[in-house]
This record gives sequence, C-alpha cells and structure tokens, in this order.
Amino acid sequence: MCYFLGAMPLQCVSGIFVLYSLCLLSFSPHCDGGNILVYPVDGSHWINMKILLQELHTRGHNISVIRSSTSWYIPEESPLYTSITIEMDEDVEDFFDVFLQEHLRAQRDGTSLLTFFKLTKGFLSMIARAHLLWSDATNQILNNKTLVKSLKDSQYDLVLVDPAIAPGVVLAKHLKLPLVLNVRWITSGEGHFVLAPSPLSYIPVPGSGSTDNMSFFQRVKNMFFYSLVLFQEKFLVGPIYDAMCDKYIEGGCNIVSLLQEADIWLFRSDFVFDFPRPTMPNAVYIGGFQCKPAQPLPADLEDFVQSAGEHGVIIMSLGTLVNTLPKEVTEEIASVFAKMPQKVIWKHKGEQPSTLGNNTLIVDWMPQKDLLGHPQIKVFVAHGGTNGVQEAIYHGVPVLGIPLFFDQYDNLLRLQERGAAKIIHLADVNGDTFEEGIKEVLYKDSYRQNMHRLSRLHKDQPLAPMDKAVFWVEYVIRNKGAAQLRTGAYKMPWYSYHSLDVLLFLISSTTLIFFSIIVMVRYLCYRRRNTKPKQS
Ligand SMILES: *[C@@H]1O[C@H](CO)[C@@H](O)[C@H](O)[C@H]1NC(C)=O
Ligand SMILES: *[C@@H]1O[C@H](CO)[C@@H](O)[C@H](O)[C@H]1NC(C)=O
Ligand SMILES: *[C@@H]1O[C@H](CO)[C@@H](O)[C@H](O)[C@H]1NC(C)=O
Ligand SMILES: *[C@@H]1O[C@H](CO)[C@@H](O)[C@H](O)[C@H]1NC(C)=O
Repeated sequence: MCYFLGAMPLQCVSGIFVLYSLCLLSFSPHCDGGNILVYPVDGSHWINMKILLQELHTRGHNISVIRSSTSWYIPEESPLYTSITIEMDEDVEDFFDVFLQEHLRAQRDGTSLLTFFKLTKGFLSMIARAHLLWSDATNQILNNKTLVKSLKDSQYDLVLVDPAIAPGVVLAKHLKLPLVLNVRWITSGEGHFVLAPSPLSYIPVPGSGSTDNMSFFQRVKNMFFYSLVLFQEKFLVGPIYDAMCDKYIEGGCNIVSLLQEADIWLFRSDFVFDFPRPTMPNAVYIGGFQCKPAQPLPADLEDFVQSAGEHGVIIMSLGTLVNTLPKEVTEEIASVFAKMPQKVIWKHKGEQPSTLGNNTLIVDWMPQKDLLGHPQIKVFVAHGGTNGVQEAIYHGVPVLGIPLFFDQYDNLLRLQERGAAKIIHLADVNGDTFEEGIKEVLYKDSYRQNMHRLSRLHKDQPLAPMDKAVFWVEYVIRNKGAAQLRTGAYKMPWYSYHSLDVLLFLISSTTLIFFSIIVMVRYLCYRRRNTKPKQS
C-alpha cells in the first residue's frame, strides 16, 4: 500500500489513513466505559480538551468536568459531561484583557529591553494570579468533606488534567487516582523540560525565539530564558502549589514531582511540528488530534469562495483572544487586501476598516477547519496559535504569520524553519511589508510544496493522533495506571542524576592510587638510598 502513497492525492492518503486506523482500533482490547474526572483549563485550551472529551463520550465513557462559576467557555449543562461547579468571585478575563491590550501596544511601539522586562513581569504576575485563583478554588473542593467524599464514592478511573494550571494534579494525588495529562504547557514553561532530559545546547526554550541550531549567543540567550522558567517555578508558581501540598497531601509534595508522577502525557505536539529531542516512554504525541477532513461549507460561503475563480482565496484570523488590532494596522491590511485579485475572508470584530475592498468579506466567525480544507484556499494569515497551526499543517495551507503573544512566535518559527510559513512581527506590519509578505507566500511555490510535505508526513503514522489519545486513556483505565512506563530517575538527587558522585569517586580514587604509587615509589627509592651506604 505504501508504495502508492507518493503518487496519490492528499484526500486519498487521508482516506487510507482513517481506514487503517479503524482496522487497528478494532483489534485493540476492549475497554468498558470508564469514569473520568476532568480538570480542564478555560479559554482556548478548553477547545481542544472538549474535542477529546467528545471522542471519549462517543466511546461510552462517563465524564465529569470541574469548572468555575465564572467560566468563559465551559457550560454548566452539556450532553457530554456532568459538571462540578466551584464558586469564583473574580473573573480571570478581566485582568487577562488588560494584559493583552498592554502587550499589543508595547509590541507596536517596538521591543526594547525595557518593554521586554515590563511585558515579562506583566505576564508572570498574570500567570501567578491565575494559579492563585484556581488553587483557592480547588481548596474549596478539598475543604468540603461532603464533596471530597462524593468524589471518592464516584470511583473515578482516572483524572484527566490540562496542567497549564495544575490544581487538578494535586486533586488527583489527594484522591489517589491515576493521572493523564493533556499537555503542552505546564505550570512553568513547556512540559518536556520536566519530563525528559533537555540539553539547553540544542533544545530552544519557548520564548527564546531560537531553533534547534543555535549560535553561541543564542545558546546564552536560551540559558537566560531557561532561568526565567526556573524563576517562575521556584518563586512565583511553586509556592502556591507547595502550600496546597502541605495542607492536603500527606508527606508534602511539589508541583514538579507531582507532574513527573503522571501516568501518561498526551502531548499536543509531534515531530513534524517540533524539533527532534529526547523524550520518555509515557509521552504520547497527539499533535493535530483535533483535525478532521473538511466538511462542506455553508452555501453562501461556498458561493463566495467559488466566485474567486482561479485566483483563489486568502483567509485571515487572529484567534479568539484579540478582537481588535490597532486601527492603523487594520486599515493598512484592508487596503492591501483590496488590491489583490484573490477574494479574502477575514475574521474581524470591531470597527470596519474604511479602506475595505469589495473582494473582502468580513465575518464574526468562520468555519476555519472546513475553509482550510477547501482546495480554493491559497494562504492562511494567522497569529500562530497551536490549534490553527496544526490545522494548517493537516490541510497543507501555507501561512503568513503575525504572532501576537505567548507561544505564537515559536509555533510559527517551526513552520518558517521548514519553509512553510513567513513571519511578520506586529511592529513591522504596514502596507508594504504586508503586501510583500502575502505575495511571497502566494506566488512562491516552495511555501505550498513544503506545507504539503509536512501535511503528508503528519498523516503518515500508524494510528491517527485522536485514536492514540483514546487508546492510552483506555490503557490507563484497563491497567489502573502506567507506572511501568515512568522512570524513577526524577527522585534521584541531582549529583547522582548527573553521575557527579561517581565521577568524584573515580577521580579521587584514581588520584589516590596515583599518589599512593608515587609515595610508594619514593619511599622505596628512599629506602634503597638509605640502605645503600650499609651495603657498600
Ligand atoms: C460542599 O459541597 C456540597 C456538594 O457539592 C455543596 O452542596 C455544599 O454547599 C458545599 N459546602 C460548602 C461549605 O461549600
Ligand atoms: C457518571 O458519573 C456521575 C458522576 O460521578 C454519576 O453520578 C453517574 O451515575 C455516572 N453515570 C454512569 C452511567 O456511570
Ligand atoms: C547550523 O547553522 C549553521 C550556521 O547557520 C550552519 O552552517 C549549519 O550547517 C547548521 N547546522 C545544521 C545541523 O543544520
Ligand atoms: C470592485 O472594485 C474594483 C476596483 O476597486 C472594481 O473594478 C470592480 O468593478 C468592483 N466590483 C464590484 C462587483 O463592485
């Protein structure tokens, strides 16, 4: 079968891929409906957690979700799950919005070292606040004897947690249940850094903006960014969880060691997207698990897309967090779009740009996945959120990236390194750069070819990422954990982990032997010299 793949159109390959995964699944051992407790993170993280829950629900598992009373995205009533709501006074969205606006403004003004520190400080204090809010909320659960008892009585098989905000990890430990993580980000930084050996010489720390091929100064920068991660872990986020551990976990704990005790890490990444690096047997790569073949578009949208003819269509979306870019930016972008022969679909809220062309359709929402899978779409103008990037890879659409926050630059960088995307910084966006960028991605064939190659590689795996995710969740249910896949090495003291004690022992014993020999030789010589006169 594999011999034909090279010559087949993409749809066909994905068809085989689905069929193949179905065959495999029907051979995997059966697992009766499990009982799963889910501790998600709100916002865009919930979008992909929900897709996983939908699949688990379809396969007959019973799901309970912990949510806050002020949740943005997670409804109380759902056919997928029963919810456990905890009261929260403060709305995370409030301070999040303020931070985002400040961040955008600072980026437009240009990034000096000072703005970098200001932004980093803002980011870190926002993160710490979110952790504090959620740990307080989780304390409400742990303090409530009736609630804890009912959680224990529910006989959950496992706890599924998104550990970007991680009180769920403490809760799982308290309830003594197996833990599965749906993860890319942990409490401080990227998950791999506490999971597997991560030499800073070739593994770029997110935020550093480097690839896996770093010059000396980039490696210095990488080390600096890693020290920020450690600072966050030791001084900002760690203490919040330490307090929970002291109170609710016998013998105490810390958040990193709890994460390291997780049974399975369902990683929202893979090595088509990310750079190669060491990993562990309990890491399961499910990057792109949310992607599905495109569904037909609504009739009016289909008409619009078809009306573009041979020129094709550009789509633009900057994600769920940003409603409005600075006005001068949207004006310039709109005027560039107006000049293009393509049609444009632009997800944009807020004031309509005055320079809008009649080829540009502004929408509040668009079926992004289905558009990306439409053969008429030529370029995706995106902010580089993980979901969008994975969908672009899956459907093979080249990207013009305008990164705004967080991991977005690093995500886009991974595509740019493979020649499948071009990045323009928000500070540099104006009519000229935007026009040049979009024409380059549209008309230079290499972008499309490289993205198609990534798409082919992504689909060429033995089991679809979603099936992998479900398999391993059910594996943990069947086997009551996956302890045999987890190394105990995390518990070693650092000097043993790096074999420094062994080195010290070997060096000192070699030195000792060496000096003993010298001393012995000198003693013998001395004796011989001393005895010589007697002989003569
Ligand atoms: C404890 O939890 C139960 C069940 O969810 C709830 O009815 C009760 O109000 C909670 N008690 C307190 C003090 O929050
Ligand atoms: C599903 O879980 C909820 C909460 O633990 C429980 O009340 C319900 O009985 C369970 N349903 C099934 C079918 O197991
Ligand atoms: C890393 O980058 C240097 C300089 O940019 C280049 O000469 C070298 O070939 C690269 N190494 C790899 C493994 O790509
Ligand atoms: C759209 O605008 C272009 C140039 O501004 C013009 O040539 C064209 O006729 C317009 N098309 C429609 C349908 O209004």
